[in-house]
Amino acid sequence: MNFKEIFDALQRFDEEYIPFPPFVAAVDTVKANIALFRETGIAHHLLVLGESGTGKSSLCRWVEQQYPRFALLDRDILPVLIVPVPPAATIASMASAMLEKLGDPVSATGTASAKTSRVITLCRACRVEMILFDEAQHIHDRGQATTHYMVGDWLKSLIDQTSVPTVFLGLPRLEQLLQVNEQLRRRFSRRIRLALGQSDKDSIHSECLQLFRSLGSCLPIPLLCGRYGWDELGMRLYYASDGRVAYIKKLLASALRLALETETGEIGPPLLEQAFTDEIWWEGVGKLNPFNPAFEFRRLDRGNEPFECGSFNNIRKYRKESIC
Ligand SMILES: Nc1ncnc2c1ncn2[C@@H]1O[C@H](COP(=O)(O)OP(=O)(O)O)[C@@H](O)[C@H]1O
Ligand SMILES: [Mg+2]
Repeated sequence: MNFKEIFDALQRFDEEYIPFPPFVAAVDTVKANIALFRETGIAHHLLVLGESGTGKSSLCRWVEQQYPRFALLDRDILPVLIVPVPPAATIASMASAMLEKLGDPVSATGTASAKTSRVITLCRACRVEMILFDEAQHIHDRGQATTHYMVGDWLKSLIDQTSVPTVFLGLPRLEQLLQVNEQLRRRFSRRIRLALGQSDKDSIHSECLQLFRSLGSCLPIPLLCGRYGWDELGMRLYYASDGRVAYIKKLLASALRLALETETGEIGPPLLEQAFTDEIWWEGVGKLNPFNPAFEFRRLDRGNEPFECGSFNNIRKYRKESIC
């Protein structure tokens, strides 16, 4: 393969959406909520929860691609409004983030209530049919219960006044925001978790394996299970990825690069073992590497291990190059 072919293969791999079950459930609910709104004007709301790397922002991107903005002579039409909630969000900064996405040239100007009324007017003018708040746990990360209650109240009234379906996406702790506000909680009766491992039919190991093989089918070289067999490889993949699509993708992309560098014609356990150390955890060697024969078959979630609760955003600290 020449350089261009390798680059194209990696790019295709990065852009491909794989329909793993919880992702499909979320996509179907979004589509159904937009269709219901178009037909009846009824707005249903959805909460999508998942640890980092489970596909929340990808879901937003997918929705944006399916319902793209387009221009009329006098204005832009935005069927869906994706709002990345700023860190330590306040009511004013949330409203500014929405105004910016709606194309308001002075999005940072005005009081919180003036901005809120502009949001509502612009949502109607741009014919917004769904609002998605990504990283919505940032709303909850600030202040005490009274602040949460105030922000919750503001969101409830925003939802009621825009009258369009909304989706809140965030880390599992986002659920606590809804606990403090009964009226908001009632509006989000539908909740979806993006984690694997919720199927009655399949184990989490076989779900990981299916995801790995689906992603692998986008690559230009074959996957092998080696002496482990596919079932055991599925289990090892679960421990190596914590069942999150982001890590399975990282492992495969890194294994592909290694395969091309070393002119190996397949991706099997030895390359995955190296990829785990290179890409996920530089201390993950021997019994701490899920692809090593001596692996101890346990979750790597203790202190200073890669799946320690809330550690994804610090993942670089586990990778060799960021330490050196
Ligand atoms: N359905 C999917 N198919 C393929 N790759 C996906 C899918 N969902 C997420 N990913 C990949 O997983 C990685 C992390 O996804 P992201 O949406 O940023 O997670 P989150 O927002 O939950 O932290 C990205 O590389 C993305 O391309
Ligand atoms: Mg995200």
